[in-house]
Amino acid sequence: MSNPSLLILPGDGIGPEVMAEVSKVIQWLGDKRGMKFDVSEDLVGGCAYDKHGVPLHDDTMAKAQEVDAVLLGAVGGPKYDNLDFSVKPERGLLRLRKEMDLFANLRPAQCFDALADFSSLKKDVVAGLDIMIVRELTSGVYFGEPRGIFEEGNERVGINTQRYTESEIDRVARSAFELAMKRNRKLCSMEKANVMESGILWREVVTEVGKDYPDVELSHMYADAGAMQLTRWPKQFDVIVTDNLFGDLLSDLAAMLTGSLGMLPSASLGSPMENGRPKALYEPVHGSAPDIAGQGKANPIACILSFAMALRYSFDAGNEAERLEQAVNAVLADGLRTADLLGEEGVQPVSTSEMGDAIVAKLEASL
Ligand code: NAD
Ligand code: IPM
Ligand code: MN
Repeated sequence: MSNPSLLILPGDGIGPEVMAEVSKVIQWLGDKRGMKFDVSEDLVGGCAYDKHGVPLHDDTMAKAQEVDAVLLGAVGGPKYDNLDFSVKPERGLLRLRKEMDLFANLRPAQCFDALADFSSLKKDVVAGLDIMIVRELTSGVYFGEPRGIFEEGNERVGINTQRYTESEIDRVARSAFELAMKRNRKLCSMEKANVMESGILWREVVTEVGKDYPDVELSHMYADAGAMQLTRWPKQFDVIVTDNLFGDLLSDLAAMLTGSLGMLPSASLGSPMENGRPKALYEPVHGSAPDIAGQGKANPIACILSFAMALRYSFDAGNEAERLEQAVNAVLADGLRTADLLGEEGVQPVSTSEMGDAIVAKLEASL
């Protein structure tokens, strides 16, 4: 049998820096665990624009459709701020999500014990936190038509459309219920059914799907109240399911419960391919962090934990995923901190690459 295939798209800014640390983990798995991958690398985002004039070349798109999983670093940066909207780096990422039909975006927010003191919230609010946000990723206001900037009378109008079909809501709701079944069997659906028709439909369809999952305790919350509850007492949640835009906002918020945006991984999953594996792309929740790019300061943990999600969801290697998560836990318990996690007095930050090396050393020690 051939090795599982991985397409690595490091992207822009800190993307290549954090991805280099994932490559160390991939190398280690091949050398020490006999888990070899066929790895290819390509461009996405601003770097693809620089070379091809588009943020995602068609050949790269085709490769992404064929591999078992895609790993992405981050895209974007100030250099590209003034580009035409259609070729902005972010369009490359959105095209991947849309054309691979990656409708279920899993964004776990887990507070590692060693970081419980670090969150901007009180320790007992976040200690032991383990929640999962399921964000719909291929529809909603990100993709709805009509959209654009139009002339209207003597001024311009900017239009985006929130649009959800029943089947789009149904499939992401099912993914969320399935996850809840494997976790603590609680699902909270968030929308704004009080002001949006798409929210009314969302609530109806999720409720209907819930009838197939009688063991899951389903609740509904308006997304604004959900944001408040996430900061008040996040441990009331197990799985949250929400739309594309609310999910974008709520997952950045959830990131800060764990200490830093540099900690939050994600998996974007589609329908199963012929081999039974879901179409999949794994990426940290954070962006290209232009303010710290090129300085060796970036926290590689979000990207490394995204690879752990790939091991779990694409490669049936839950045991190796756990080993990797334990290794991350262990370096944090030893007090290693990249600059984004500083706060304790007298602690010197480690670099991106030192953090990656320390995680690999913990993997080695686990054998
Ligand atoms: P950002 O996530 O890049 O950065 C926000 C803040 O968090 C910055 O202060 C940054 O230094 C810090 N940060 C983020 N990741 C970190 C890490 N791993 N280690 C340490 N600190 C980290 O968000 P932004 O500044 O709003 O956006 C910058 C660019 O990234 C924009 O072009 C945006 O569109 C893009 N972006 C891309 C993605 C993606 O590729 N998936 C996600 C979000 C933003
Ligand atoms: C994310 C990012 C993206 C989004 C951007 C870069 C397109 O913020 O993955 O959270 O808005 O989905
Ligand atoms: Mn975001």
